[in-house]
Amino acid sequence: MSSHVAGPRKHVTIHELRRMKEAGERIASVTAYDATAGRLVAAAGADVVLIGDSLGMVVQGHDSTLPVTLEHMIYHCAAVRRGLARGDGRAHLVADLNFGSYQASTDEAVKAAMRLVAEGGAEAVKLEGGADYAEVIRRIVRAGVPVMGHIGLTPQSVHKMGGYVVQGKESDKAQQLLKDARALEVAGCYAVVLECIPAELARIVTGQLRIPTIGIGAGPHCDGQVLVLNDLLGLDDAFTPKFVKRFAELGAAVKEAVGAYVGEVKGRTFPADAHSFHTSAVRLVPVRPENDRDEPPDAMGAPI
Ligand code: KIV
Repeated sequence: MSSHVAGPRKHVTIHELRRMKEAGERIASVTAYDATAGRLVAAAGADVVLIGDSLGMVVQGHDSTLPVTLEHMIYHCAAVRRGLARGDGRAHLVADLNFGSYQASTDEAVKAAMRLVAEGGAEAVKLEGGADYAEVIRRIVRAGVPVMGHIGLTPQSVHKMGGYVVQGKESDKAQQLLKDARALEVAGCYAVVLECIPAELARIVTGQLRIPTIGIGAGPHCDGQVLVLNDLLGLDDAFTPKFVKRFAELGAAVKEAVGAYVGEVKGRTFPADAHSFHTSAVRLVPVRPENDRDEPPDAMGAPI
């Protein structure tokens, strides 16, 4: 259990997140994609657990988030929700609206958001995009579903951006990001993710908004931070972007543990007596040798 968690474990609502911003308390958010991860990150004191569509990359092995479907998001969200239910229920659960679920029509966006809440157990949804999505956000919020915005590097627009590149480095782009952030707040977002933008810009955006900003690759001035669980655990040796801090080296630990298991199976030291079941009550009659001569049935079930 994190030593940073003190006092009564009150559920983190969207109002609590606003209070945390106002009180200057940092918001710690992390992704999770299954029940075990949900249980562990909540027990570690995460305020916000995000079912990110990054699951397309870290769970499904795609090279982008684009192939993730709404059914996938609901499936993983429901699994994490069950994991959280095994803990103290404090963490706030937000799920990504996947690529294609909210861009084509506002009605579809509202229905997708409602499914993530009703079937996945999410308390809120996150969607990528700026002022262009103000109307979609308004409609989802009006339907009773809180919306977290996401601007800066928006992975669902990887082809439009020309790759996973830092956004808002030039004045005009930075100005547009500030306008987008404000439009999201006015449209009713309760928080906004700022991904891979300069720390100076994130500081200004954070200072101008009343809603909390949650940064990833956006420097230390945001109201909170979010990281992909697999990244902070150091599960992938090949993925080492600048903005990720590896808080553990679980990739190496997993390889070592599985290697030890393989070695013991091959060396016949696992399972040991301590891992085996015993009985003295079993008396078996040897199987009649005639049975060994039974012919296998053909495809129609008749003896050949
Ligand atoms: O999909 C995701 O995990 C995210 C976070 C990186 C913010 O959107």
